[in-house]
Amino acid sequence: MKMVKKIVFWSLVVFALIQFVPIDRANKPVDHKVNFVDAKKTPEKISKLIKGACYDCHSNETVYPKYSYIAPVSWSIKSHVNEGREHLNFSIWQTYNSDLKESMLNSIIPTLQSKTMPMPGYIVYHKEANLSEAERKLLINYFEEMLKSKSY
Ligand code: HEC
Repeated sequence: MKMVKKIVFWSLVVFALIQFVPIDRANKPVDHKVNFVDAKKTPEKISKLIKGACYDCHSNETVYPKYSYIAPVSWSIKSHVNEGREHLNFSIWQTYNSDLKESMLNSIIPTLQSKTMPMPGYIVYHKEANLSEAERKLLINYFEEMLKSKSY
């Protein structure tokens, strides 16, 4: 019993201490000239869907939820945001060259079709990211059209 108490005590101490290791929640300013939805003049309806479902991890406009203030959850969220931005950052879309844009569109479409994006765990806490079949189809059509017409 003594052992269990010790473990609980030290776990609490560690939990308290890790709260002092914060994450950087500062977003870089958004340049609207290179921001995807502005530069592409994305229709309002589509733009709302992309912003609601993808922008938290794939842009510099991340809105951090309340639970992102608790370590170690905060670390996991921050690493998703960092990784997400590395793969695709809509805020700097116009800085990518044509080849890169094309390959990004080619990976965006299958992630929507296979429902691997938005990340399933994220949808649980973000209703607006829980895309309906129709909304998914809208996004897929929009990105496919862009790819076909090479208007990226
Ligand atoms: C909660 C964070 C989060 C959200 C929301 C999110 N993503 Fe991602 N995304 C990631 C992470 C992390 C990765 C990199 C790891 C991986 O591939 O799973 C990624 C990777 C990707 C990739 C690259 C995959 C590849 O095969 O190269 C694409 C494309 C992508 N996401 C598209 C989207 C789209 C489109 C949306 C919105 C419909 C979206 N994501 C929403 C976190 C997110």
